[in-house]
Amino acid sequence: MRISARLLSSVVQRRPFYVTTPIFYVNAAPHIGHLYTAVVADAIQRFEKLTNPDCKIIFSTGTDEHGTKIQQAAARANQSPQDYCDAMSKEYRDLFKEFHVEYTDFVRTTEERHLRAVKHFWKELKDQDYIYKAKYSGWYSVNDEAFVPEAHTREEVTDDGKVRVSVESGNKVEWTEENNYMFRLSAFKTHLKNWLKTDGVVQPAKFHNQLQEMVADDVYLPDISVSRPASRVHWAIRVPDDEEQSIYVWLDALVNYLTVCGYPDDELMKSRGRPWPADVHVVGKDIMKFHGIYWPAFLMAARRAAPRALLVHAHWTARGAKMSKSAGNAARPRDAPPAAARALRYLLLREATLADDANYSETKLINTANSELADTLGNLASRSTGAALNPRAEFPALPDPHAAGAAQLARCRSLQPTQALMRELELLPEICHKHYTNYQFYKAVDAVIRVLHLANLFFETLKPWELKKKPECQKELDVVLHITLETLRICSIILQPIVPDIAKMVLDRLLIPENARNWNDCEVPSWNLKDAVHETKKIQSGKFVLFPRVYVDKGERKASAKTG
Ligand code: ME8
Ligand code: MG
Repeated sequence: MRISARLLSSVVQRRPFYVTTPIFYVNAAPHIGHLYTAVVADAIQRFEKLTNPDCKIIFSTGTDEHGTKIQQAAARANQSPQDYCDAMSKEYRDLFKEFHVEYTDFVRTTEERHLRAVKHFWKELKDQDYIYKAKYSGWYSVNDEAFVPEAHTREEVTDDGKVRVSVESGNKVEWTEENNYMFRLSAFKTHLKNWLKTDGVVQPAKFHNQLQEMVADDVYLPDISVSRPASRVHWAIRVPDDEEQSIYVWLDALVNYLTVCGYPDDELMKSRGRPWPADVHVVGKDIMKFHGIYWPAFLMAARRAAPRALLVHAHWTARGAKMSKSAGNAARPRDAPPAAARALRYLLLREATLADDANYSETKLINTANSELADTLGNLASRSTGAALNPRAEFPALPDPHAAGAAQLARCRSLQPTQALMRELELLPEICHKHYTNYQFYKAVDAVIRVLHLANLFFETLKPWELKKKPECQKELDVVLHITLETLRICSIILQPIVPDIAKMVLDRLLIPENARNWNDCEVPSWNLKDAVHETKKIQSGKFVLFPRVYVDKGERKASAKTG
């Protein structure tokens, strides 16, 4: 088994592996972008479990429910803030369930345990003298829930006349003057610089560099306001011992990562295996500043460790613009044709690189689903396990377990595609392990699909349907089936973090036991396992359709699934 630094630390210290998503605002229903962050984090925890099955995983997600933005959304919906939050928070939970996002903790900022954590955290900052009272004036963006330095705003002329917007987000800002509590962010410049010196603390490198540039620029490190008058923001947690002030929503929200650890209850934190600091916070680039500057500074001020790593990803766009709830160009997972929705996880992880924006379209979803899931993977699985070519429903052993499959096919016409497939399959697990470790999911999928293309070519060239007709070719047929099923087994184990449901269907079909689906079960193909027992095994019989092709009726814009 491979020993990574991470694995070593969790084995030696028996620490849980702790991965998070942001907690999402409940001001509107989730879209593809939110699902993307959640499936990235889920793929990370599934890969961790796959390579380190004994490790305890903590995978948290949740909803961010306080502040002006939510207050206004509830008012627009004619609901009380709490009723509104309950309904919207449930939408996120339902979405994650549907897409197999297996979080271990779902945290809501309106929960009692979180209130306690935030108030306690506030007191820690106050006791360390990092919070002071001041009169504050500046530009505030409700949409970003953030004060924006004047230098980071610009005037724009719109239909309603002149408005001022944040350069970074494009959202409107308004002039605000109020009494606030301030946090001494400026005191942390050197500490933040040092934290950012750690290799890989922010990935990918593009965002690491951006964050280092920000920290070098004083305009990003003024003391920041960490409260708002309760008269303006009433849907919020009150400052301890000051009912007139509400705690700034971002301070409230960031503390969720400690709430999940049982903070501030020491016994509870201990019983959870002391998961802090988080191994990796997965966030979109829009909130990198909050996670890469404010959050580590808050933690340092409270004398706690900064997160071990941030994984920052770029955005999904639709029609050329960042998909967003407020911009109105959001594609919702629910809008995808039902027959294609099952492929969403696959498309999101297969298509996006972390560093650059990716464009979403339904056409892309359907085309990818059809060509890769239905044809390349699905067809091969149906044909090699179906009654026509495999009537006994078997995963046949290699007739001669001590000779490589290619050698056994030497009598066959085509050695070249056999050798190519076998060689690439031998290399695949190691290649994918590296890509997963670097969070390059698209590269892992790409490598798997390339091997599956080779497997299809092998199948077409060896023509098992012809071997099937000749009794004297039974051994060769067994070799072809064996190599194909072994390819499907290895590829499916590797694909589990990407498409757990689809990979499970293939592994179930092959009757691979649950305890033989870990990473070390895919590292060596059968023909290189010299000491193993080589025997023919049963597989499931009957018709097998892994992923029905999606047909779109252009007139109705509705997709239907047809089998066969
Ligand atoms: O910012 N492409 O919540 P939020 C990819 N509550 N990912 C996207 C995306 C897009 N177009 N749009 C959103 C908040 N996301 C705060 C977080 S955490 C302590 C508080 C994803 O509902 C991405 O992860 O606006 C982004 O950072 C997050 O949703 C913002 O969600
Ligand atoms: Mg947002």
